[in-house]
Amino acid sequence: MLVLGIESSCDETAAALVNDKKEIISSTVLTQSEHKTFGGVVPEIAARAHLEHIDEIIEETFRKASLQPFSIDAVAAAAGPGLIGGVTVGVMAGKALALALDKPFIAVNHLEAHALTARLTSDVKYPYLLLLTSGGHCQILIVHDVGRFTRLGTTIDDAAGEAFDKVAKMLGLGYPGGPMIEKMATLGDENRFVLPRPLYNSPDCNLSFSGLKTAVRKIIESYTEDGIIEHAILRKQDMADICASFQKAVTDCLLHKLKKAIFTFRTTCPEGLDVVVAGGVAANTYLRSHLKQMCATEGLIFSAPPISLCTDNGVMIAWAGVERAVKGMYNDLDFRPRPRWPLDENAPKAAGAGGVKA
Ligand code: KG4
Ligand code: ZN
Repeated sequence: MLVLGIESSCDETAAALVNDKKEIISSTVLTQSEHKTFGGVVPEIAARAHLEHIDEIIEETFRKASLQPFSIDAVAAAAGPGLIGGVTVGVMAGKALALALDKPFIAVNHLEAHALTARLTSDVKYPYLLLLTSGGHCQILIVHDVGRFTRLGTTIDDAAGEAFDKVAKMLGLGYPGGPMIEKMATLGDENRFVLPRPLYNSPDCNLSFSGLKTAVRKIIESYTEDGIIEHAILRKQDMADICASFQKAVTDCLLHKLKKAIFTFRTTCPEGLDVVVAGGVAANTYLRSHLKQMCATEGLIFSAPPISLCTDNGVMIAWAGVERAVKGMYNDLDFRPRPRWPLDENAPKAAGAGGVKA
């Protein structure tokens, strides 16, 4: 079973070929550089850039594999959630190929693709506990099977990646913020600035990062005379200390709520042994090492995709396509791209599960 995966839901135009033997045959990722100066992704610019590059990215993916398009068994495309212009470009390309090649089409939920990637790269078994943390989403879920998720908690405002991006923007570090903050943090003192841990004491598994971001803004403002953060005079060490303190606060919040979720996971799925982190923020090595430590203490197996497969890519879409194809889960060509597409829309809620932002 060989599946072509197409990703275009945010600022990566990507394609990959993956088979059911867990082999990545070929992968191409183009990260759009057009957004750097804006401190975030501009949807209209992203959609145009996807349209401009999607064909060559798919062609390049086949060329690198020395394969012809007719050798695939199915076409999978990220069909949401995401920026609708970009998603539509990828879905249209996927449907057109499926129609021309007379192969089945698979509409992949971008979040499901993040969620399942660790099963491609490690031996992760259903059911498992997932911390899904990216630029647009931050959720804790039980993954029972393909298409079957129970959401235990979610952010009630910003996603963790969004907070990384906004703090980086305030510090003038550019976009995407996560990798820059992580780099700066290695030089900083994580205990220098006292930052809040929003929702830390709430009994549920929900998260919140908006207040944390505001607290960082206040610190930066204290380095100005006029309260305009662009006028802040920060030494490199101050910046590094802010980054380290912020990264620690985010990590503390994620770990604390994941620990609560482990309790629910154990009660709901006593046979479950695996904990997975996925999504762009899962590329953060500080977070990964703390999660690994916590899982070891809890007697659970920790897995994370390799760093290159944490941020958006075609491999994750192709692999989700493989998981769906082996179960015969195909979609009609009239499937409509979905800007919002909660993972747990068909699943029963666990006791105490949160549910605010899809
Ligand atoms: O999964 P992704 O590529 O796109 C979405 O689906 O949102 O995630 C992108 C997010 C961005 O917010 C970016 O700043 C964050 O992942 N990110 C990181 C790191 N690398 C990427 N956050 C923290 N540390 C990193 N090393
Ligand atoms: Zn993503």
